Amino acid sequence: MAQSSRENVLFLLLLTFSATASLAQQSFRPKALVMAVTKDASTLQYVTRISQRTPLVPLNLVVDLGGQFMWVDCEDRTYVSSTYRSAPCRSAQCSLARASGCGSCLESPARPGCNNNTCFLLPDNSVTHTATSGELASDVLSLSSTDGSTPGRATTVPSFLFSCAGTFLLDGLTGGAKGMAGLGRTRIALPSQLAAAFSFRQKFAVCLSSSTSSRGVIFFGDGPYNLLPDVDASASLIYTPLFINPVSTAAAYSQGEPSSEYFIGVKAITVGSQAVTLNKTLLVIDKKGNGGTKISTVNPYTILERSIFTAVTAAFISESAARNITRVAAVVPFEVCFSSENMGITRVGPSVPFINLMLQNKDTFWTITGSNSMVQVSDNVMCLGFLDGGESPTTSIVIGGYQLEDNLLKFDLAASRVGFSSSLLWMRTTCANFNFTSSS
Ligand SMILES: *[C@@H]1O[C@H](CO)[C@@H](O)[C@H](O)[C@H]1NC(C)=O
Ligand SMILES: *[C@@H]1O[C@H](CO)[C@@H](O)[C@H](O)[C@H]1NC(C)=O
Ligand SMILES: *[C@@H]1O[C@H](CO)[C@@H](O)[C@H](O)[C@H]1NC(C)=O
Ligand SMILES: *[C@@H]1O[C@H](CO)[C@@H](O)[C@H](O)[C@H]1NC(C)=O
Repeated sequence: MAQSSRENVLFLLLLTFSATASLAQQSFRPKALVMAVTKDASTLQYVTRISQRTPLVPLNLVVDLGGQFMWVDCEDRTYVSSTYRSAPCRSAQCSLARASGCGSCLESPARPGCNNNTCFLLPDNSVTHTATSGELASDVLSLSSTDGSTPGRATTVPSFLFSCAGTFLLDGLTGGAKGMAGLGRTRIALPSQLAAAFSFRQKFAVCLSSSTSSRGVIFFGDGPYNLLPDVDASASLIYTPLFINPVSTAAAYSQGEPSSEYFIGVKAITVGSQAVTLNKTLLVIDKKGNGGTKISTVNPYTILERSIFTAVTAAFISESAARNITRVAAVVPFEVCFSSENMGITRVGPSVPFINLMLQNKDTFWTITGSNSMVQVSDNVMCLGFLDGGESPTTSIVIGGYQLEDNLLKFDLAASRVGFSSSLLWMRTTCANFNFTSSS
């Protein structure tokens, strides 16, 4: 009798405790979330750190702007979590994730990544273009909240959906990375899942730092996105529509699946005072999913289909010659390099011709200034950071990481548009200027 009443007291205490805990959780609803992004000096990949599991474990994940969802290595024996749940076949989670298959695992006993009666996804390593199949699962995820100026308290999502993968899928990623953080256009990519978990707008922003020693920032939720000294980087953005590529660009996919990547409508390109002549057919996405322009964080430099590459570099070379900038021998992986001797320096980088990506009308263009076009390869040589994509790449223009650095990109998924700032150096700030000193 005495024992059972003691148990009752304990039970009541536990009940009260968990009720308080869940109330506290509910009463704090963040307006936005923030995470830091570091550029790895050897792979040039952008890496973030997210805490997952119970107890929480910080994981380094490679940021994949167009990635379908978050995937992590579950084969690693260090995956230990009391809150790991595989998604049962035909559950609501499987349909939300549009999980392609349903299966069982032959190993015994069950472990994270290997459970019976679980639906499967096709996680891909978009750096190496390799895919596998992996169990759909959920676990606790923790990120910092923010008021737009500094990080606030940590917030958790109790059942964040992701895919498991085998350890081999990590090959080609930055050392120490445990998976990839997909920010693409699906219902279970980080932006949509976080927006649903905290009932905020389906908006997120990416601001990559150009330095490997200072952190850039990704925000989930609406602005302000404040950078020191007191600049709201979302205040003066130019918007362009996002296009859906009807054919998946992932390494493996099921028939009829659209691409989760972000495509924009580049209609023309100008270099300095020249309009570059381009084959317009290459600029639109055809029925097979070929052509068009996408934005990618897994490609370190912009890649252009060969005829576009040839035309753009020819214009850049002639415009540079007119400025007495001397061309020098190529330096791998670049083809077009110059002596930096006659190159002035401006607030927006080396003084070279601007490259404008012309969008929906003549007043809407994304300007690539010297800070985003020229890559320093030695003391006195700078190269144009664009690569030749060969004769028939799937996507004609892939805007790569170097061209995104110190630019703010704000994705508004409900309105299907992306806002871009062009170089933040014009506004005397950079993506490394978010104040990561916590205010809580
Ligand atoms: C899955 O089911 C099969 C067949 O019933 C069984 O042999 C196997 O041990 C189970 N695996 C797990 C991980 O539960
Ligand atoms: C333009 O590109 C399309 C698609 O690759 C190709 O079929 C066509 O022949 C090209 N046109 C010219 C004039 O090169
Ligand atoms: C380029 O050099 C030539 C010859 O030295 C000079 O006449 C011209 O003004 C220079 N142009 C520019 C843009 O500096
Ligand atoms: C950064 O944020 C912290 C915490 O809110 C604050 O104390 C500090 O003054 C801020 N730094 C700058 C340079 O504004």
